[in-house]
This record gives sequence, C-alpha cells and structure tokens, in this order.
Amino acid sequence: MERENFIIAIDGFSSCGKSTVAKAVAKKLQFVFIDSGAMYRAVTLYFLRHHVNLDDTEKINAALEHIHIDFVPHADKMCMLLNGEDVSEEIRQMHVSEKVSEVSAIKEVRQALVRQQQNLGKRRNIVMDGRDIGTTVFPDADLKIFMTASPDVRAERRLAELLAKGEEVSMEEIKQNLAHRDHIDSTREESPLRQAEDAIVLDNSDLTQEEQLEIVLNEYEKKKKGH
Ligand code: DC
Repeated sequence: MERENFIIAIDGFSSCGKSTVAKAVAKKLQFVFIDSGAMYRAVTLYFLRHHVNLDDTEKINAALEHIHIDFVPHADKMCMLLNGEDVSEEIRQMHVSEKVSEVSAIKEVRQALVRQQQNLGKRRNIVMDGRDIGTTVFPDADLKIFMTASPDVRAERRLAELLAKGEEVSMEEIKQNLAHRDHIDSTREESPLRQAEDAIVLDNSDLTQEEQLEIVLNEYEKKKKGH
C-alpha cells in the first residue's frame, strides 16, 4: 500500500548541522522532528550508568529491555526522556559523545532503535536526522538530504556549542573525537554511514542557516509534486 505521510531523511557526519536544518524544516512544514542520534546517546548513557560491558551481548539485550525512550515537547523544544527522566542535556556531554559511536555500532542496539524509529515514522509527516535514515531506516523516504561540511567548520561549531554549555574542552579534543566518530560510523558493519544513491548532497560549509533551509524547502516542493 502507498504510504500517505511524507518522510524527510537527513543524514551526514557528526556536527554538520543536521539537527539545526532538520528542526527548522520541521518547524516550517509543521512536521515532527526526530533526532535519531539522541536515541543512540540515551542508550549510551544508560549503558554507562549501569556499567554494561559492550562485549556482553546477553547483558546488552537485557539492558535494551529496560530502556524506554520518549520524545516530549517542552516549551519550544523536544525533550528526550530516558525511562521518564529528562536527559536532554546530559546526552550531549563529552562522556556520552566519547562512547556513543561504539554503542551505536552494536547490532542489537541498532536493530532495537531502527525498529523504534520506523514506528515513529508511521502515519505522520516527519523529518528524521541521523546516519542511516535514507539507507536503512526509511530507504523509501520521499526526500533524502546528505549533509557535509569541512572538518574545520564542523570542529568550530562543536567547540562553540560545548563552550556555550560550560564544558571545558579543547579544539584538539574535539577534532580527535570527530575524526574517531567519523571513522567508526562509516566503517562499522551494521548500516554504516554512507550517502544514499538518491540523496541530495548539501555542503553547508559556506551557507547560512536560512540558505540551507531554503534549499531543503525547494527540494521538498519539487518532491511533493510527485508524491
Ligand atoms: O548525531 P549525533 O552526533 O548526536 O549522533 C551520535 C552518534 O550516534 C554518532 O556517533 C553516530 C550514531 N548514530 C548512528 O549510528 N545512527 C543514527 N541514525 C544516528 C546516530
């Protein structure tokens, strides 16, 4: 049966500004925004707190049974709830960023989260950002965007974001963390980060947020005609 809802998939490397564009597009079109990376971060936080050994598949499966993730609107943003607790801030901290790629390379974790993501995209218009949305989660997404930006631009954006939150990090640490995550994300066995063949590439190194929004909305208009 033909799907009636419209799905926009935005994939790309870490700190390319995917979430910023995805949020703006969702707001403009009144679609639901889903940050799939936040879900991997929430699982990572749970594993860290409960000292789940990443080599122990049995423990991982047992832990996944106890993890309940929800997105709830609060004021002007979406909060991420991990078993009812608002962890929106904590999942962005360095201790989570340092482990999240390892956790998201685990097959059992991906299977559980991909299933949840597919359920979130049933019957409603969504913008979902991540690494494998256009390739694995919604290979039939109506519009696929693949975002890139130069490594320096990405590191500067990430540094500004963390410093604004009061985290003490150096440019060197950020660059290492980004390179490490890029490597794991694009070389893992389970749905590695790669550009879908039918994705539109958006390099935003020299684009303002308004320009990026306009490009995606134009592409949306084109695809909507054929929907
Ligand atoms: O987008 P982000 O940096 O918050 O994502 C955190 C991590 O989660 C990232 O290192 C890769 C992983 N991830 C993934 O494997 N698949 C997704 N769909 C989204 C994120």
